[in-house]
Amino acid sequence: MTTPSHPRQRPRLLITGVPTDETIAHATRWFDVEIWREPQPIGAQLAEAAAGMDALLVMPDDRLDAKAIDALPRTVRGLATHSVGTEHIDLSAATARGLPVFHTPDVLTDAVADLAMLLIISAARDASGAERALRAGRWTRWTPTSMMGRSLQGMRLGILGMGRIGTAIAARARPFGMVIHYHNRRRLEPQREAGAIHHASCHDLARHSDVLCLCAPATPELRGVVDATLLDALPDAAMLVNVGRGDLIDEHALFAAVRRGRLTHVATDVYLGEPAIDPRWLELPRATLLPHIGSATREVRSAMGRMAVDGLASVCGAPAAGRCANPEVLSR
Ligand code: DGY
Repeated sequence: MTTPSHPRQRPRLLITGVPTDETIAHATRWFDVEIWREPQPIGAQLAEAAAGMDALLVMPDDRLDAKAIDALPRTVRGLATHSVGTEHIDLSAATARGLPVFHTPDVLTDAVADLAMLLIISAARDASGAERALRAGRWTRWTPTSMMGRSLQGMRLGILGMGRIGTAIAARARPFGMVIHYHNRRRLEPQREAGAIHHASCHDLARHSDVLCLCAPATPELRGVVDATLLDALPDAAMLVNVGRGDLIDEHALFAAVRRGRLTHVATDVYLGEPAIDPRWLELPRATLLPHIGSATREVRSAMGRMAVDGLASVCGAPAAGRCANPEVLSR
């Protein structure tokens, strides 16, 4: 007697933003894929769209607080984010529900460090101000004193958060002649420190930073760490660069400090509440403002997508592996 054969149902994956074609092709190996293609984040429609899904791949601008996680259908076995940062996901709520959360460390380190160098150089040379002047027809002639910036050689670069990305920024900045200072929760081994000068507090780091570069995650302890007192601790004519998270900065304090002449340039890729940024950013006289493109290269975005999909595939029975931000769930 033969048993009627049913085609084995493939697991279903919802992706809440349009990934690269390579990511879609990779995901399709394991999953039936649905993609949220609207220009706005999926928001409150997530639970409904996730009905019958086995896995979700969300974007850094999706907010998955405890309520949103609780509302997810029970069919969902795995969650991944198309980012290394997991601040937008309530990890404790996901863990309590037994939901592994995969993310994408390492593959974006070089791209973000490259972008940090772009911002550091732009800050020192006011590249965006010079371009604005050219576009506005204010480039009338070359003079020795027009559009002067600062040389990186000998300048102190203070790195707040000396993890993978901070270390990669230090490695890029040294050949420019910058002297590296840093603050990190734990002091690095001498070999990884490579001569960088450790400071036990953020304020001590600020006092020694001609350019202060933020590349830490926005943990609860670090939210708003760049406040009025830290900005006042910076040397005169200091610059601020942010490739970490907007939440690291108390933006009211920042705008007030710029009004008091505390900073000669702010160069940032990330903002509080992005993409709906505070309009006062656009009024800053000397600023380089990028729209969160740190990891935005074709190669890196595909590598991130592949890594996130592999994590999800691994919990849906595929021979793949991902990087889990709450690994305790997997060992239960
Ligand atoms: C990350 O992966 O966290 C990058 O900032 C992109 O969101």
